[in-house]
Amino acid sequence: MITCSAPGKIYFSGEHAVVYGEKAIAAAIDLRTRVTVQPSGDFIINSSLGSTGLDDRKHPYVTQCVRKIKDFIPTGVKIDITSDLPVGSGLGSSAAVTIATLYALSICFDTNHTLSDIADLGYEIERTLQGVASPTDTFVSTMGGVITVPDRQTLTLPKCHIVVGNTGSFSSTRELVASVNSLKQAYPDTIDPVISAIGKLADYGSGLIIDLNYPALGRLMNINHGLLDALGVGSNELSHLTWASREAGAWGAKTTGAGGGGCMVAITDQPEKVARAIKSAGGQAFITHVTPYGVKAE
Ligand code: MEV
Repeated sequence: MITCSAPGKIYFSGEHAVVYGEKAIAAAIDLRTRVTVQPSGDFIINSSLGSTGLDDRKHPYVTQCVRKIKDFIPTGVKIDITSDLPVGSGLGSSAAVTIATLYALSICFDTNHTLSDIADLGYEIERTLQGVASPTDTFVSTMGGVITVPDRQTLTLPKCHIVVGNTGSFSSTRELVASVNSLKQAYPDTIDPVISAIGKLADYGSGLIIDLNYPALGRLMNINHGLLDALGVGSNELSHLTWASREAGAWGAKTTGAGGGGCMVAITDQPEKVARAIKSAGGQAFITHVTPYGVKAE
């Protein structure tokens, strides 16, 4: 039996634009998904979503992981999943479960996959299930730390606090990526510059993370929030939690992940105050930090 865990992630900047090749800054956070695997006579997957066999509807990501390495599995495998990450909330829960499962299966069945192979397989799975996807979530969940994509530069770990606010409404990355794409098709002259403006924030942001200049990084996050709204992936609740965080003194706050619902992220030196403001505004708050640890055996 082996247990592996992989982290969720936030974006300091660049979600959605990264799908079109623009630069983004993403960071692994200390909220993790744990996956225990053990050889078995059958295929069994247990999670908060229920207990199933291989099941493309209830456990699509884990089912795809098993299919990817089925040749190494003699008879079957039992997989138990627990997670700190709310599902469909923009924190990379699907990447975390995919990467933790692939890594645990690779150790349990001695497949000789490297970390880079695991990240690549995870990306293939996300692309298959989401239609269009960037490698960001799966790469960051595998490697940990703060990483710029697509150039894969590792940045210094920020020393500021991170507060995540969950609106509690589920969002589908697949649908939101498709809706940005149709806006882009309908109004290219307006939407293409918005996407490229989001990409430029990562160039400014990387320098500010290296210089530990969090107030300026926060200003860029505020700009990014507005640009995500322009792409149509904001929501009343996300903006409500974002503004509550800023008014409580956060340096910056923005939607993180696909948007539409799900989570926002704030950076601050007053995490308790910002978390209280998010709760008073109706959200669920998590005080967390960036973690250098990607996927690992527990
Ligand atoms: C989802 O966490 C981030 C998106 O940019 C999609 C992707 O990069 O695959 C919306």
